[in-house]
Amino acid sequence: MMNCLQSWPEPVVRVQSLSESGIRAIPERYIKPPSDRPGFEKQEHVDIPVVDLKNLFSHDHTLHEETLKLISSACKEWGFFQAVNHGISQELMKRTREVWREFFNLPLEVKQEYANAPTTYEGYGSRLGVQKGAILDWSDYFFLHYLPVYLRNPSKWPSLPSSCRDLISEYGAEVEKLCGRLLKAMSISLGLKEDYLQNAFGGEDIGACLRVNFYPKCPQPDLTLGLSSHSDPGGLTLLLPDHDVAGLQVRKNGKWITVKPVPNAFIVNVGDQIQVMSNAIYKSVEHRVIVNSAKDRVSLAFFYNPKSDLLIEPAKELVSEDRPALYSPMTFDEYRLYIRTYGPCGKTQVEFSESNR
Ligand code: OGA
Ligand code: NI
Repeated sequence: MMNCLQSWPEPVVRVQSLSESGIRAIPERYIKPPSDRPGFEKQEHVDIPVVDLKNLFSHDHTLHEETLKLISSACKEWGFFQAVNHGISQELMKRTREVWREFFNLPLEVKQEYANAPTTYEGYGSRLGVQKGAILDWSDYFFLHYLPVYLRNPSKWPSLPSSCRDLISEYGAEVEKLCGRLLKAMSISLGLKEDYLQNAFGGEDIGACLRVNFYPKCPQPDLTLGLSSHSDPGGLTLLLPDHDVAGLQVRKNGKWITVKPVPNAFIVNVGDQIQVMSNAIYKSVEHRVIVNSAKDRVSLAFFYNPKSDLLIEPAKELVSEDRPALYSPMTFDEYRLYIRTYGPCGKTQVEFSESNR
């Protein structure tokens, strides 16, 4: 399997170039089977919970407890919430999103210098998975390593726009801090010591990556998806969505709910590794992205992950005779090979490890 991860199985086509070519019909390889198409059914009047983080570490015990309860129920019921009053400057969020929009609007030749390969995925990419003949998603992306520091290589980050590298560092430092606070809150709300999850992730040696998604306008949005259904393989994801284009859908009771982004909020979601560590008390929930014919969409997903060679397993404190361990230990390196080979495929993987324990 490692062998087929060296290069892409077919010539890479940039979805943005397809979109900008003015085609009226999308190529066959982006057409999803009818059961996976968006459907655009009537929207339910529900949305993922909104959690105000203002009192997360308040000295007022009651306020602190209330915030933890909201986080806990969101992670159990939805695996998702929108975080407001998270402490990150709106100005920084806006500048970072705009610099990436400008990057994607640079000429193709400039972006091609960063073309990625499936060995590390780092750089400018247009597919996830290396299966020849796979049906592809309607998006391009830029993927980079932020942590551990020895994997961080700013020379692989875009040198244009000229403020891009500095903004990645500035934004990365802020979102890293926020992820640390959220991990602490999740540990406490699971009844674990506040540093449990952070330590189980590798303490100072955790991993973090940034994936900037670019979803070009699509002439036939009802036939395809910007990103197929998947759960995030890592620990915790902090998503900065587009400020004026919706697209993210979260699965709830078998239905797809389109998230309406709250201004200046981050969307937080539980990844598979927290589902494993919490012994499935917290859920890593399937989500996908739909596209539209009117507007491009940009989103930034910051993945806060366990150190890649540590064994990840359910916390002993959350395993009992009544609730045996649902997963056997596995490293994150081993785990993520699956999505990197087969691409986004719903929640099949964490369910697979459940049934094979
Ligand atoms: C992801 C993801 C959602 C979005 O990058 O894993 O789910 O809205 N992105 O772009
Ligand atoms: Ni995701």
